[in-house]
Amino acid sequence: MCGIVGYIGTKNAKNILLNGLEKLEYRGYDSAGIALLGETLNITKVKGRIAALREKMEDEAFGTLGIGHTRWATHGVPSEENAHPHESASGRFTIVHNGVIENYQELKETYLQDVPFKSETDTEVIVQLMDKMSQTTQDTVTAFRQTIQLLQGSYAIGLLDNEDVDTLYVAKNKSPLLVGIGNGFNVIASDAMATLKETDQYVEIHDEEIVLLHKDSIVMMDVEGSVIEREPYTAELDMQDIEKGTYAHFMLKEIDEQPFVIRKIIQAYQNSDGQLEMSQDIRNTMQEADRIHIIASGTSYHAGLVGKQFIETLASIPVEVHIASEFAYHTPLLSENPLFIFISQSGETADARAVLTKVKKRGFNTITLTNVPGSTLSRESNHTLQLHAGPEIAVASTKAYTAQIAVLALLAVDTAREKGVQLDFDLLQELAIAASVIETLTEQKDKIEELAKTFLNTTRNAFFIGRGIDYYVCSEGALKLKEISYIQAEGFAGGELKHGTIALIEEDTPVIALATQKAVNHPIRSNVQEVVSRGAKALTISMEGMEQTGDALVLPAVHEILTPLISVVPLQLLAYYAALHRGCDVDKPRNLAKSVTVE
Ligand code: G6P
Repeated sequence: MCGIVGYIGTKNAKNILLNGLEKLEYRGYDSAGIALLGETLNITKVKGRIAALREKMEDEAFGTLGIGHTRWATHGVPSEENAHPHESASGRFTIVHNGVIENYQELKETYLQDVPFKSETDTEVIVQLMDKMSQTTQDTVTAFRQTIQLLQGSYAIGLLDNEDVDTLYVAKNKSPLLVGIGNGFNVIASDAMATLKETDQYVEIHDEEIVLLHKDSIVMMDVEGSVIEREPYTAELDMQDIEKGTYAHFMLKEIDEQPFVIRKIIQAYQNSDGQLEMSQDIRNTMQEADRIHIIASGTSYHAGLVGKQFIETLASIPVEVHIASEFAYHTPLLSENPLFIFISQSGETADARAVLTKVKKRGFNTITLTNVPGSTLSRESNHTLQLHAGPEIAVASTKAYTAQIAVLALLAVDTAREKGVQLDFDLLQELAIAASVIETLTEQKDKIEELAKTFLNTTRNAFFIGRGIDYYVCSEGALKLKEISYIQAEGFAGGELKHGTIALIEEDTPVIALATQKAVNHPIRSNVQEVVSRGAKALTISMEGMEQTGDALVLPAVHEILTPLISVVPLQLLAYYAALHRGCDVDKPRNLAKSVTVE
């Protein structure tokens, strides 16, 4: 959600910024813009894609200092007027901003009543305040500090002063932003991916810090102006991880990467004897908990539901799973020693962060499962479990989901063992088998593509049914389908459909059923019969040992607790091919953002 790139150096910033913004497209956006400062200031904005921005930027646009932005609308509709960069009324300052300024109305009324605003955004308040503050001080840094001190909420800011072509003004609070260090240039980016082509050396900016970027140096300070020293680190990202290669879409590439991710997780969580091992801190934290609350959104929430089943059945600790945005405002009664586990691919989701802030204030223990080391949730919680899925670029999450399930299974098994529970299986071995099975499924793309064409090419809606753990996977399958193909899709517990939603079943309504759980094979089959008798077209996906004539796909058997890792794969592929054949933008579905940094 929203992305920032900035450059100061000796080259023309134009292509560096355009390429950087393209790398941030995956975060989701609806408009974009770039400001270049050279002898003159050149601002270009579009509603729509970066490709259109590239086309619109004049050939002669030149500046050795520049800022670029992708915007996902919050305050004000997606439009050219509301797209960043925004200029101050005097034209002296230009800004790009991610985040939400919570007190923008108040600031407008207190300081800016006489200022004509051009946009409906909260961002414009910041740049207009810069104009105001610089009227009473000659020093831009002081004006910048004074402005930043007035802001409440989240921000990552890049600001240009067109009277000073040698400085890029930067500030951060709660929204992600990094400084990249180059030789004779420096950059800023919401994500190292955006500027990896330029440099692999980065410095973290912490909340409420300000940075002045010059082409040969950077100065970091707190809002009071005290200078801060911080060592750079090398971004461990491979260009290959963030390129599509021969794939038509990132989503398909990421589906195919799942076996590799699981193998990486096996390696990361085993000791030199090949035995499962978690850090002692995590072990102690799990043992101390009398109840676990899993907090997550979207796909991560669906992984959390599976995780609950793992932890309760294997380690016998009661678990509640909460939608992050609900928990923040409706906190349930808590036990004496609750543990909060945050699941977030990006580690930046504002809904989860709101809960983290709240529970931290009460002194509770927290673990974050995330794919992004150094992300906000990871930094702010007591412990982190890494997902090792590598960058996930497609908005629809696939490999991060399977990574979350694998890590949750490891956590549950490790906790059970520490409690002295004897388990009759070796999870690392079972995960290795699951990885190979996923590989065989990704080789059956043609078959799944045909199923997608037959069942999902023209339908308006689709239902997914399953029981037990299959139900949770169905919820994820339905989310995948609706996110990228815009087919109205819902996941239901098999027995629940008949309590209302069955009224929606018409001739040829697709119903996708999962039957991978022995204990409920018979009842889910009855549920399929119920919908078929009312005209539904059923597509049943079962598992070896439970198959019946007419099943569309029979998945190779894996250990019962790992079935979600396997059964989700055909659902991901069905969604992919449905979206593809319906002409949808698979990797960048409308209205969605990858990293949702507003509540
Ligand atoms: C957005 C994305 C989803 C994702 C959810 C949670 O809605 O579009 O794909 O599942 O955020 O994101 P997180 O990074 O916290 O897992």
